Amino acid sequence: MRHLILFLLLAGFTTTNYSQNEPEDFLSSSFHKERREAVRKMMPPNSVAVFFANAVRNRANDVDYIYHQDPDFYYLSGYKEPNAVLVVFKEMQEGTEGENYNELLYTQKRDPRAEQWTGRRLGAEGAKEKLGFAVAYNNTKFVETPLDFKSFEKVLFFDFKNDYRNSRDTADLFDLIKTFKGETNYPSDYDPVKQRLYSVIKTTSPENSANVAQRIKQYLTRFAHLQSDPLLKEYVTTAHQGIREEVKEKITLQLNANNLDSQLLGQIMNTLRETKTKEELVLLRKAVEISAVGQIEVMKAMHPNMSETEIQGVHEYVYKKYGAEYEGYPSIVGGGNNGCILHYIENNKPKVGDDLVLMDLGAEYHGYTADVTRTIPANGKFTSAQKQIYDLVYEAQEAGIKASVVGATFQAPEQAAREVVNAGLMKLGIIADPSEGRTYFPHGTSHYLGLDVHDKGTYEVFKPNTVITVEPGIYIPEGSKCDKKWWGIAVRIEDDILITSNGPVNLSEMAPRKSDAIEKMMAQPSPLDNFELPSLDPK
Ligand code: GLY
Ligand code: MN
Ligand code: MN
Repeated sequence: MRHLILFLLLAGFTTTNYSQNEPEDFLSSSFHKERREAVRKMMPPNSVAVFFANAVRNRANDVDYIYHQDPDFYYLSGYKEPNAVLVVFKEMQEGTEGENYNELLYTQKRDPRAEQWTGRRLGAEGAKEKLGFAVAYNNTKFVETPLDFKSFEKVLFFDFKNDYRNSRDTADLFDLIKTFKGETNYPSDYDPVKQRLYSVIKTTSPENSANVAQRIKQYLTRFAHLQSDPLLKEYVTTAHQGIREEVKEKITLQLNANNLDSQLLGQIMNTLRETKTKEELVLLRKAVEISAVGQIEVMKAMHPNMSETEIQGVHEYVYKKYGAEYEGYPSIVGGGNNGCILHYIENNKPKVGDDLVLMDLGAEYHGYTADVTRTIPANGKFTSAQKQIYDLVYEAQEAGIKASVVGATFQAPEQAAREVVNAGLMKLGIIADPSEGRTYFPHGTSHYLGLDVHDKGTYEVFKPNTVITVEPGIYIPEGSKCDKKWWGIAVRIEDDILITSNGPVNLSEMAPRKSDAIEKMMAQPSPLDNFELPSLDPK
């Protein structure tokens, strides 16, 4: 009897709705479909593109990290579960049962027992109904009746990160990739970096070969294992153009012997994800605005007795209050000297005291992440030294934002901001020559922003509807070779800038950025001023 009840309960669970009271403002299925069309358009004739879902990664023992889908996979499917494969074909295909398709999604199989423990699954039927796939199968089909990848001229894929495990599940990522490797001519020593270099050589003209050989030689200093590759070695060491052409022929033959291409898909996704559609901008804007409100609430709540952890908690509470699922990257809250560590994530100083607090955090809302940094004085007032550095970074950021215009190169904001920082540091006597500027401003000024915090893009000229960060900083760790009065000052100001045909739009402008506007905001009362919790210290 108990078994019958259990069976009925589990059977009932299978038919429950996969979308129980979920938010409704996710990307639409037509967005994902249209993006797959865009990929298809850029694929060569008789090719197939194969995308694998992200791996489930282990945290400790039987606890895994919270699962996060691979952003390309999400962009093209909307599917948020692991152990899945998306296949996009250039041309229409006919399946074994006479079905026609030009894309397939292989999903996790629905399984009442597994779903009771680890959450609802969409399944193949759900993928058709909710995500709009005309044809979707269980992932078991990918393993049991694999596609004939050898019949395509090109198989496009991203090479594997090799951080997945084989579980008891017979169609987990391990099995899916094993099937793919078995069904393609995947060499056991496949090396994506070697592939990239071979592809470069294949497309290099004889006149340019000496130049390219020089660049490859330099590049190889970072990849010691490839320095002994006989073809690469010969290409970079010979002084004769004729020999380089012979090597090129051998490389071309090798590349053509294999239909695998782990390079082209990267270029396609960089191009597509660089510019955002209207639908994407709604979500990205929301993520950024949520993060700006987080900064505002912290400005109001901040006082010297707060810990870095507590400050982080206030930001992240605001994110959750607005329904943001995650942080787009580990939150950075560094008081004083801790701010000099660019990606400081310990966030464990018990009291921030009278220092500046550098706060670099971003809400992730329905896949899109913000990346906003504010640096504020914990006691509400900048000292003279802090203000001088702060205002210099502000000026550099203004110059960087102004340079973020359609048609400018990706380097334009970097050059503009760095020039201001170098000139300012010289004027303050912190450096004697612009070449020393990197000591105190050691990172780049911009990156693309979107589904990834360091989003995909071409890093060429700016196009409309691109979102980048502009984030200059000055970091003066204790012990630096300058006047002691600057020691322990770390300032980064980071905003998320939408590049449009009408100029740059600051999506995070809601959070005060000027030093006097920050002081004014910090003087405002906070709902947390009266939030008292009992002491748990032993009496
Ligand atoms: N939060 C990481 C970055 O600013 O790039
Ligand atoms: Mn950033
Ligand atoms: Mn940041």
